Amino acid sequence: MNYAEALALLSAHGQTQLLKYYDELSDEQKRILLSEIEHIDFSIIDRAGKDAERKQGKITPADAVTAQDIEKNKKEYEQLGLRAIAEGKVAAVLLAGGQGTRLGSDAPKGTYNIGVNKKLSIFECQMRTIKGVAEKAGYNFHLFIMTSRLNDAATKEFFSENDFFGYPEERIHFFIQGVSPACSHDKKIFLEEKYKPVLTPNGNGGWYSSLIDAGLGGVLSRDGVEWLNVYSVDNVLQKICDPVFVGATIKSGCACSGKVVKKVAPEEKVGVLCKEDGAPTIVEYYELTDELRNRRDADGELTYRWGVILNYLFSVNKLNSIDVNDLPYHLADKKVPHIEDGTKVEPSVPNGYKFETLVVDMIKLMGSCLAVEVVREREFAPVKNKTGVDSVESARELLKLNGVEI
Ligand code: UTP
Repeated sequence: MNYAEALALLSAHGQTQLLKYYDELSDEQKRILLSEIEHIDFSIIDRAGKDAERKQGKITPADAVTAQDIEKNKKEYEQLGLRAIAEGKVAAVLLAGGQGTRLGSDAPKGTYNIGVNKKLSIFECQMRTIKGVAEKAGYNFHLFIMTSRLNDAATKEFFSENDFFGYPEERIHFFIQGVSPACSHDKKIFLEEKYKPVLTPNGNGGWYSSLIDAGLGGVLSRDGVEWLNVYSVDNVLQKICDPVFVGATIKSGCACSGKVVKKVAPEEKVGVLCKEDGAPTIVEYYELTDELRNRRDADGELTYRWGVILNYLFSVNKLNSIDVNDLPYHLADKKVPHIEDGTKVEPSVPNGYKFETLVVDMIKLMGSCLAVEVVREREFAPVKNKTGVDSVESARELLKLNGVEI
């Protein structure tokens, strides 16, 4: 793309501010800027505005298979799950493209040292679990790791430095997720440098299309992968390719499933599994009305009590039969550092929007979803913040409770 083409494109989208410093740039910087502009998906900005206005359907509570119910049939589910894993039908997808801004470290979140007396990264915690399941099943299942262009190199380097945590390197596949532009409240895309628009990871909803775009669909078809276990990087007790969960899902006939915990309080910041117009859906904590958030059944339990922990199993067949790109963009009001009047501005309050699609929105597209309750203390130790709720501190306590030496 040359300057004239970029100008025409930006004029059509009302974004000519991106060329404000063009005359000051070196030839290399001009080349970078024009290439970045060429690859921006401007339609996201309009789409996000329309998606935000979408009217929610009728929300009703959803049921879950309780941990007690699972316990009763555990042996059967476990055998079924182990067989599917041993036959290569199950693979894992780690979502590790987030920026982890709340944790306040620029390094990939998985590299964070959760150890106290010894070094123990979040990646290592999760890889230990993976190795345990693979050993039990007698099969090294594939692991796909989604990174972003901001943390891809550092993530790969960390895995390599740590000898892939003892897992066969050829079973681990990295792929990079997409980006979306960040803009001011009046929808003008910011510049991060005079020659670089602000482009940030576009949320965790694009994992399947990014995996396919990276050419990894061939691995799935070659090895007959039927189920993908998608999980987040920020839970140090995450059970990956849990045979019981896999078995329960296969037995249910549902196209997807999600692990859930009973919310500890109405205001707990987890998405809630519900139904929207009768179909399974997940409503994010900030989108649930006060009335629904606080509603209780006659026995005192929260009516909307099943909080998701970002551990889902998706049928590959079903994923291939739906439009996985048909996800709404969510507008997140964030602090976005940018160039203003030639100098870098570090805002102290949210000054603009980032645009993200979310994996939770895929549940609705899948049509049917089995919610499986898990024991919170055994499986849910989120690392979102440095201290306080869902923090490094609380995750360390939970690791100790589960007998992990840290
Ligand atoms: P979060 O929603 O907690 O976001 O991610 P985050 O970026 O990690 O953290 P904050 O909000 O900036 O503090 C939940 C999961 O989704 C992944 C994260 O890596 C984490 O595993 N994720 C999030 C992506 O893979 N890509 C994204 O664009 C966003």
